Amino acid sequence: MEIKNVVVIGSGTMGSGIAAHLCNANVPVTLLDLTTEISSSARDRIFNSKPPLLIDKSKINKIEIGNISDNFDVVSKADWIVEAVVERIDVKHEIYKKIFSKRKEGAIVSSNTSSIPIKILSKNLNASEKKDFCITHFFNPVRYMGLLEIVKNENNDLNKINSLKNFCEIQLGKGAIICNDTPGFLGNRVGVYAMQIAMTEAFKMDLSIEEADAVFGRPMGIPKTGVFGLYDLIGIDLMADVLKSFIKELPKSDKFQIVAKEIPLINKLIESGYTGRKGKGGFYRMNKANGKKILEAINLETGEYSPVKKIDLKLDTINLIKLIDRKDKYGEYAWSVISQIIKYASSLVPGITKKFNDIDEAMRLGFNWAIGPFEMLKEIGVSNFFKRIDDFKDNNFLIELSKTKDENFYGDRQLYTEIETLGKAKTKAIKIDKNRSAEIYRFEKYNIVEFTTKANALDYDSMDALKKATDKPLIIINESMQFSAGVNLTYTMNFADKNDFKSIEKFIKYFQETCKHLKYSKYPVVSAPSGLTLGGGFEVLVQSNFVASHTNIVIGLVETIVGLIPAGGGCKEMLWRWANTTEAKNNPDFAPLKVFDIIGYAKTATSPVEAEPLKYLNPEDKKIMNRNSLLSTSKKIIEENNNFKPPEECKFNLPGKPLKEKMIKILEKLYNEKIIFDHGVDVGTELANVLSGGDTTIEKTLSENDLYNLELNSFMKLIETKKTQERIKHTLATGKPLFN
Ligand code: NAI
Repeated sequence: MEIKNVVVIGSGTMGSGIAAHLCNANVPVTLLDLTTEISSSARDRIFNSKPPLLIDKSKINKIEIGNISDNFDVVSKADWIVEAVVERIDVKHEIYKKIFSKRKEGAIVSSNTSSIPIKILSKNLNASEKKDFCITHFFNPVRYMGLLEIVKNENNDLNKINSLKNFCEIQLGKGAIICNDTPGFLGNRVGVYAMQIAMTEAFKMDLSIEEADAVFGRPMGIPKTGVFGLYDLIGIDLMADVLKSFIKELPKSDKFQIVAKEIPLINKLIESGYTGRKGKGGFYRMNKANGKKILEAINLETGEYSPVKKIDLKLDTINLIKLIDRKDKYGEYAWSVISQIIKYASSLVPGITKKFNDIDEAMRLGFNWAIGPFEMLKEIGVSNFFKRIDDFKDNNFLIELSKTKDENFYGDRQLYTEIETLGKAKTKAIKIDKNRSAEIYRFEKYNIVEFTTKANALDYDSMDALKKATDKPLIIINESMQFSAGVNLTYTMNFADKNDFKSIEKFIKYFQETCKHLKYSKYPVVSAPSGLTLGGGFEVLVQSNFVASHTNIVIGLVETIVGLIPAGGGCKEMLWRWANTTEAKNNPDFAPLKVFDIIGYAKTATSPVEAEPLKYLNPEDKKIMNRNSLLSTSKKIIEENNNFKPPEECKFNLPGKPLKEKMIKILEKLYNEKIIFDHGVDVGTELANVLSGGDTTIEKTLSENDLYNLELNSFMKLIETKKTQERIKHTLATGKPLFN
């Protein structure tokens, strides 16, 4: 079965997201709603969405729109019809009647329902209709969330389900997991339970919401929104509906029932319009005092708000053992939450799935957890877990495991896909070398470096790992959300605070040396980014020999925001890329001015389509929808380049002073128009110095090392200024830029 044409019915949050993503995959799609006005405004919403739902915004009009009264004939041409109307069974039944009277013989019809079982949805269908009906449960935002649950039951044609899975995996790039028809499927059943446990235990143990979110967050491999932040993000009212549906669908004996009970504070919040970020606020809210915005957190006991208190657990990486071994309330809370998540998830095997592994992967792809419940169990250690756990009666999985105490119970990862993923490959490495910031996985014919710091921020150790891994072809790739958010600013500021600028200089020099080494080493280096690829992360990528990029990247040189300039070769490489354009051949100012504009404004691209015109990516770089395929694509690049020759060193002829003066004029204009301020001029002047070539003339040829030196000198000048340090501190504290 080939899917060449899709109709999506219902153009709300999910329908519009699904249509946009089909457009991303170049699949012809029509979006229908009750009226064309509704689907038209959905298209406007897609166009203006942030982060963007479209990889290429210029394709917006490829999404056809219409209404279900005048344009329903499109259904007869579709190979797949996705229903994404409101979560009301009467409305859904009505629309299925209409769809099945029009659909092409054999076309797949699926619902995006988050909670209604197939058996209820398909109640009125005949046997041959039931064969082609299933649930395709996408997550919001569709472009960015990896998980797609394809829910089937005994009536389905399995070949058809498998070919749908194949399409969604390869063309749409989703982690498509086939599941049984049980309430909440895999992701929400475990994910929502985990949220409820984290919330109810926080109430029980008198933790503040900041404390709970600090524990049920990064140290556990869970996104930093934690539980209360996530509640606000999803919508407190929506969560209440989800819980009601679980209460209704699940047996009375299910442990979920205990944690899904109504909480008075939550009812009060909903009633008073505190439904989360979309409302007046929720557990957290933004308040204004003396013209300043202040983030406040609610007190779970009194319901009063007060300014958020930062909780520092001094645990920057995932470390379950350290967390649960703590002899304080945080340790106690962590153990209580983790152990109950493990108990609940394992109690669902084999009922909701025979492969416990699928539950972990669903949590990873659908909730952005770094590790799922069973991996948590593996990390804690089987014996250690059973030493601490109280009872686990009726839990066959744990009863069996308690007998074998098999520490290696886990087996392979990512069983839901046949693709050779990074997760699978890592377990087959011949040798693993680790330092505090990266891991090197050594294989016979190549090495993999995976960064392991928060947001994969780079420091001396990250560079050291890269350098040590170039004794074979190298692939730089990772499983976590970001490729790299850039140089670790906290690390840099720690030196700056002690006036230890020598150490910063040493680090930047090593960064440059490593990147140069990546570019010119004997073996090819492939960068395979996904997510943030910013600043130093981009500099690693741009000095790799090849790139295999996921379509969900945010890429760019953003150093000027924190009062710095790229000093790991970013200015140099961007100059080189732009110097090789036809315009640059006739105009020596062209390339430097272009790069001055791009780096000066810290321009970023949110997809490869946006990245190419800025030359952050090249046309020949591979661009891939399915993140899981980045490794196999990178390996193929290596295989195809077994006669690899490192590139020739680049050389630069730059205009020097006259161009620098031109750039300074641009800065003066921006300053007069109040677009930039004093320090903006200082930073821009240093950038101008580097990009014009410093003290040079157009006749003089500069080497790469000359450019590295210019970058280093300007970087050091800037990092020593109070205003750059203020910018860095502000960004570290707030995540926002400081304009000074
Ligand atoms: P929504 O309320 O944003 O959009 C629903 C759309 O359906 C509206 O545009 C409405 O005009 C349209 N509609 C209603 N009756 C219709 C009919 N008879 N024919 C055509 N269009 C009709 O809802 P949302 O959030 O997009 O949810 C859609 C489905 O996806 C629901 O089943 C929901 O449970 C499910 N879902 C929602 C998620 C979310 O995060 N919002 C996540 C996963 C699933």
